[in-house]
Amino acid sequence: MKISQKETFLVLRSFRSGLNNHIYSFIYDNTESELCKLESRYIFNKEEKNRLLFSDIRIAPSSSAFIKNRLDLISFSEDYATLIDEIKKECICIDGFKVEYLVFDGDTTEYSARLQKLRDVGYSIEGNPEYYNPTTTYAICYYEGIWCFGTLIKNDFAWYKHNGKPCSYSNSIGMNIAKALVNIAGKANKSKKLLDACCGVGTIMLEACFTGVNIEGCEINWKICRNARENISYFNYSANVYRSDIKDISKRYDAAIIDLPYNLVSSATESDIVHIIESTAEITDRLVIVSTSNIASLITNIGFRISDQCSVSKRGKRKFARKIWVCEKDVK
Ligand SMILES: C[S@@+](CC[C@H](N)C(=O)[O-])C[C@H]1O[C@@H](n2cnc3c(N)ncnc32)[C@H](O)[C@@H]1O
Repeated sequence: MKISQKETFLVLRSFRSGLNNHIYSFIYDNTESELCKLESRYIFNKEEKNRLLFSDIRIAPSSSAFIKNRLDLISFSEDYATLIDEIKKECICIDGFKVEYLVFDGDTTEYSARLQKLRDVGYSIEGNPEYYNPTTTYAICYYEGIWCFGTLIKNDFAWYKHNGKPCSYSNSIGMNIAKALVNIAGKANKSKKLLDACCGVGTIMLEACFTGVNIEGCEINWKICRNARENISYFNYSANVYRSDIKDISKRYDAAIIDLPYNLVSSATESDIVHIIESTAEITDRLVIVSTSNIASLITNIGFRISDQCSVSKRGKRKFARKIWVCEKDVK
């Protein structure tokens, strides 16, 4: 890939001004591409491009299903030898470190040359390296004509433990979508109070609790509600789950997520759907709704504006798609 001087200049300028001191790498299936971009817009106010995103916003990679890692920039240079000098000047002295090479789009450096560069960086750091259980991982990469070095923070996918929740439910939403819904609803701001209005067995709540987001749940069916409580306490999280019809909740929230009932297991008529959305709209000005059909007119009829939306299909089941609607109360 040809390097554009203009792009190099812009990237260098943003690094120098400290505007893009975190480089995020993304991983997702093509069926989740729209959802990943939607989530990016609410976390970073911009979309990832070619599975990369530069930002001054710092978030833990494991709070998103799609962020593979975050590189916190320490040094950068257009000239490789200068980068190595810059790393030496940092006088990093640490035992148990590891260095990785991140191959970004457009980097044609051959494998043997990458290994040599890893050695160069390794010899610029004082201390004993550790390959398997490093205390700190550093990384280098080449992007748009610029060599970068920094600390690498990985998504350790520790939240996969939620797969082992004691109570499952055939209508549960996938964990990747659940994490994205939490980020979209709360705009990755942990001080926001969220409600999962139809929480089922608590899949979305588990992801919010994992990230430290303040969330409560509501579930009309007492058995399913009991299962949600069991799932939450199994992982030692603490969050209220109300056994209630959403219409009876009067507490206000900064945002609510509604994973609408669908199919035979938690079937709902159109009037049930209207009832759930209208009742939730009474207690918040921001809704993130998951539906399996087009509910655009229903949302606008209750006085909400659709500010963003996307569609996510199931891997291998392209015909089944969930729609995600981000809705804000219309200010008249
Ligand atoms: C699609 S499921 C939610 C699944 C959930 N996200 C999970 O992953 O487990 C929809 C849930 O809404 C609940 N529900 C239906 N009507 C409701 C109402 N009026 N108030 C609260 N919950 C309701 C159903 O019992 C069902 O468990």
